Amino acid sequence: MSDLTRLAGVIGWPIGHSKSPRLHGHWLARYGIEGAYLPLAVAPDRLPAALAGLPALGFKGCNVTVPHKETALPFLDSMTETVKRLGAVNTIVVTPDGGLHGDNTDGHGFMASLRATVPDWSPEATGDRPAVILGAGGAARAIAVALADAGVTRIAIVNRTREKAEAVAALVADGSAPSVHGFESVSGPDGLLSRAAIVINTTVLGMDGQPPLQLPLDHLAADAVVADIVYAPLMTDLLSQAAGRGNPVVTGIGMLLHQAVPGFQAWFGVTPVVDDALEAAVLDRKAQPAAKVEGGG
Ligand code: ATR
Repeated sequence: MSDLTRLAGVIGWPIGHSKSPRLHGHWLARYGIEGAYLPLAVAPDRLPAALAGLPALGFKGCNVTVPHKETALPFLDSMTETVKRLGAVNTIVVTPDGGLHGDNTDGHGFMASLRATVPDWSPEATGDRPAVILGAGGAARAIAVALADAGVTRIAIVNRTREKAEAVAALVADGSAPSVHGFESVSGPDGLLSRAAIVINTTVLGMDGQPPLQLPLDHLAADAVVADIVYAPLMTDLLSQAAGRGNPVVTGIGMLLHQAVPGFQAWFGVTPVVDDALEAAVLDRKAQPAAKVEGGG
């Protein structure tokens, strides 16, 4: 490393589990960039000092992850409308005058992954059929807003805790004010799934170490897209069930890979490509022959 080395990183607590260093490290090597992307373990009480120090240390910016995505907002000098709306930041760019500009690329990541995996999907094609979002955490907020901004007019939010689903619905623009439901409204002959154009699991259910998501897909339309944001395992029970009955599936890794593109572009000056080699590097496995790759951007 030299004084020309471009620096970025990811701020979280703890940070050891983050896949972002591996992700950006793969791109840095691939594009031969003199740069470094570091895991930065920052305890909650040190967040203001850590953020304030980024420009002084010569950082081009950073990603922000749990538990700082919301608490970092007061320390930004400017932010996108998306950050204001979601109340959460995941990408910070140091501006030429040494300020901190915040963006949230999670919704972009989901949409880019969806478009890359199911190229003929379009908001217009969903028509009157709802996009059904399971869960009402930060990822659900980002995805609901991104779908509405892309022109999806019917959105249904399904969550165990109704108030959280209502809070997500309230974020979305008027034209596509989402409906709010409990899990009992999802399956069955007249359930949400029987009309859904796309179903997206944003809950932790189905993740390694969590309970499974028990969701019978018997009445799901044959052409409905089924997406999961869980990527460990890559093929969750939900996705296996959907793929087994012929529905198009979108694995969770694509959102992680695509949300990283705008940050890398801003910090290192190259628009990086999301491909199978990147996915393999992030998942720490060998790239598979193209014919065997199961979606995921
Ligand atoms: P993130 O911000 O990463 O999207 P989160 O805020 O932790 O994640 O949200 C987790 C989601 O998983 C929530 O929708 C949560 O439901 P509640 O709002 O009712 O808590 C959902 N979830 C977690 N465990 C669940 C369970 N056992 N059954 C149903 N939903 C569950």
